[in-house]
Amino acid sequence: MIARIAPSILSADFSRLAEEIAMCEAGGADLIHIDVMDGRFVPNLTFGTKVIAAVREVTELPLDVHLMVVQPENYFEDFAKAGATGMTIHTEAAPHLQRQLARIKELGCKAGAAVNPATPLTAVSEVLGDLDLLLVMTVNPGFGGQQFIAGSNGKVRRARAMLDKAGSSASLEVDGGVDRATIRGLWEAGADTFVSGNTIFTAQDPQGEIEELRKRCVTDA
Ligand code: DX5
Ligand code: ZN
Repeated sequence: MIARIAPSILSADFSRLAEEIAMCEAGGADLIHIDVMDGRFVPNLTFGTKVIAAVREVTELPLDVHLMVVQPENYFEDFAKAGATGMTIHTEAAPHLQRQLARIKELGCKAGAAVNPATPLTAVSEVLGDLDLLLVMTVNPGFGGQQFIAGSNGKVRRARAMLDKAGSSASLEVDGGVDRATIRGLWEAGADTFVSGNTIFTAQDPQGEIEELRKRCVTDA
């Protein structure tokens, strides 16, 4: 398994967004994680189509768009057109999850489902075949820089077992409080895609930080 590092631009300096993204690329980032928040599903507002399109202009990296919004289907078309590579929606905001995932794929994007810390993995157990990505939140979504919720590794381990048992090749992503101290346990638990915002963008050497995170994702022989 190879670890993928997905810097979250939520913690970037927006006045220098193109430079920040170039820095992520130079540091070897695998994806750019874009957090869309609507002030309803989560108590914070961020950005939408225009920022996705602007990021698409300045990088070839896949854009991993995390929709923390109610009625996410209202945005699928616009975000796909703007250049999203994948869209991940929250099970808590998706009563018709199977149909919503199918729609994301129809638009040519990778389909992801996210579970909040309090949401059991059974929320996705009937749609494993429809998933390109499963996102296990390791903080309650809404803000960057929050503390990793201890005990998340057990859930990631169960998510890995569930995907493996179903023969799924979906990515297993984690998001929230991922840093040098927490990434190793998440990797050992079976996560393969690591979102990290605050840790990367507040580091003295953000490029080096991406490398530091990746270095911790090795399996001992
Ligand atoms: C949280 C967002 C995250 C956030 C992670 O609601 O979904 O992607 O940017 O940030 P850090 O790594 O700072 O916890
Ligand atoms: Zn996110």
